[in-house]
Amino acid sequence: MNIPQAFYDLAQQEDDFLAAVWQGLGSTPKTLPCRFFYDQRGSALFDAICDLDEYYLTSTEQAILQDCAADIASLVGPTGVLLEYGSGSSIKTRLLLDALSPRLYMPIDISRDHMLAACAALGRDYPHLQVRAVCADYSKPFALPAVASWGRTVAFFPGSSIGNFDHREAVAFLRQVCRQLGSGDALVLGVDLQKDPAILEAAYNDAQGVTAAFNLNLLARINRELQADFDLDAFEHRAWYNAEAARMEMHLMSTKPQHATVAGRMFAFRQGETIHTENSHKFNHTLINQLAFQAGLQVRMVWRDPAMLFAVYCLTKP
Ligand code: AVI
Repeated sequence: MNIPQAFYDLAQQEDDFLAAVWQGLGSTPKTLPCRFFYDQRGSALFDAICDLDEYYLTSTEQAILQDCAADIASLVGPTGVLLEYGSGSSIKTRLLLDALSPRLYMPIDISRDHMLAACAALGRDYPHLQVRAVCADYSKPFALPAVASWGRTVAFFPGSSIGNFDHREAVAFLRQVCRQLGSGDALVLGVDLQKDPAILEAAYNDAQGVTAAFNLNLLARINRELQADFDLDAFEHRAWYNAEAARMEMHLMSTKPQHATVAGRMFAFRQGETIHTENSHKFNHTLINQLAFQAGLQVRMVWRDPAMLFAVYCLTKP
């Protein structure tokens, strides 16, 4: 396998996972952090979600990027580094690599093996590109290896992953990105827009049940990694639009009264009780302006698809 030229492992997943699961299941209402969806199976299921007709986010963002990548390149000028937060399979990355021609690509992802496999494929297709992979949980503070000497940096945060944060977390994340950028550097940010809830609910309740499998894999992962005994047949996937909070919510609903034990600690579930596993906030221009302002970034340009489903923003650090 063609491995990245450098690999920085900044993640401390095991300790963090058990503590977060105990804390989330011990809370009222019960929650689990969505960052733990992405083990190897979860990452593969997420890739399958991105290929679903109902999950318009990926194809729409890709189409916008296809149209606007050259505009981004002329807006930011010659680029030395492409940084990508939550790189996953690095599919949309190729559009920016082709348009920006950076010398260094630095993906940052919590899902180590998935990221390394994606880097190997990129290494084959872009033989002159330096690839330095960083395994880190970007939702927490971390020190990025220095890249300023490589020239202008463009950071990329696609897929509306910003929507998986609440407002305070989104500002904290964008501030961290802003600190990791130099003056004049840019952030290309993909965001899912507010729209008819029927379109949103279809996207998170696909007919093939891939999103349900993705959601339930969180319990399967807890069973696999944390000596737990969740009965996977006694929980069901639920997803709905919360209009007041402008977000899709995903839950796992207990279909009967039951108990589950995680690493020796027991949790009780009522029939119909849910574990809240994910929020996907949906945006409008005002919200993005507000986030950018609070993080110290400037909105330079926005591109949308004709149906106004999704937007790609170019923000810069003054
Ligand atoms: C990664 N993230 C932006 C996806 C989303 O839409 O919130 C994860 C996902 N959850 C269900 N389907 C996809």
